Amino acid sequence: MHTVADVASAQTRLLDFKRHGLRVGFVPTMGFLHEGHLSLMRLARARCDHLVASIYVNPLQFGPNEDLDQYPRDLERDTALCESVGVDTLFVPPDLYDGDHSTTVRVQELTDGLCGASRPGHFDGVTTVVARLFGIVQPDVAVFGEKDYQQLAVIRRMVRDLCLPIEIVGGPLVRDVDGLALSSRNKYLNASDRSRALTLFAALQAIANSGSPSVSERLAIARPIVQADSVDYLSIVHPSSLKPLETIDGPARALVAAHVGSTRLIDNIGL
Ligand code: PAF
Repeated sequence: MHTVADVASAQTRLLDFKRHGLRVGFVPTMGFLHEGHLSLMRLARARCDHLVASIYVNPLQFGPNEDLDQYPRDLERDTALCESVGVDTLFVPPDLYDGDHSTTVRVQELTDGLCGASRPGHFDGVTTVVARLFGIVQPDVAVFGEKDYQQLAVIRRMVRDLCLPIEIVGGPLVRDVDGLALSSRNKYLNASDRSRALTLFAALQAIANSGSPSVSERLAIARPIVQADSVDYLSIVHPSSLKPLETIDGPARALVAAHVGSTRLIDNIGL
């Protein structure tokens, strides 16, 4: 595995592989890797000749009162994990933007609800960094986790709207043995927070297991199950438009975001 920190060197190196006909796969991350990230890298590995992973904690996607400074980092461990799943190039830029960077990539509407409502500007930061990373890596295929379900939908829309020749693959959410969706932020949870965090998945399971076609009935069953300090949303939406549904008569997705202690957690399930 080759590690590269500089934007221009990364772009030159990867363009060269493409010129030689190699199919480039890409998994962007913010590091502090867990089995969820590794599962995305394995998915990408099977779909490409040259696998690139990036680690960059992107300041643009953090709000002023969010955890940018505390975001967990462990580059040495992450490097070993990337190597263990067959990453060929690990891109670890200390800085990604030029001092006079002036472009924002914004996907409208899809970013209005769910996490977009409680984290204004978050998805603009995500799409801006992902577009820039796509420009540097120029992948043929990129893999994103279904854990960040809205992010995956937003990136799919950006790629479609901008006609980027990149196949976007969604990787299934990975859970710990107790059912908690894997997240780098789980590190913040103490034992009692963790058991309350598990109620998010319990609520989603109750929604999935209810046979009712009525969204309001399913939500009424699930709401009392969530033992969080505050709930940003518990919603049932169309899987690609992310519009709230009233009746379940086709594919749907239930999503939740809530604060447990100082940690904001998200989870989702297909219906
Ligand atoms: O999902 C993440 O870790 C980040 O949002 C991403 C896609 C790496 C962009 O910073």
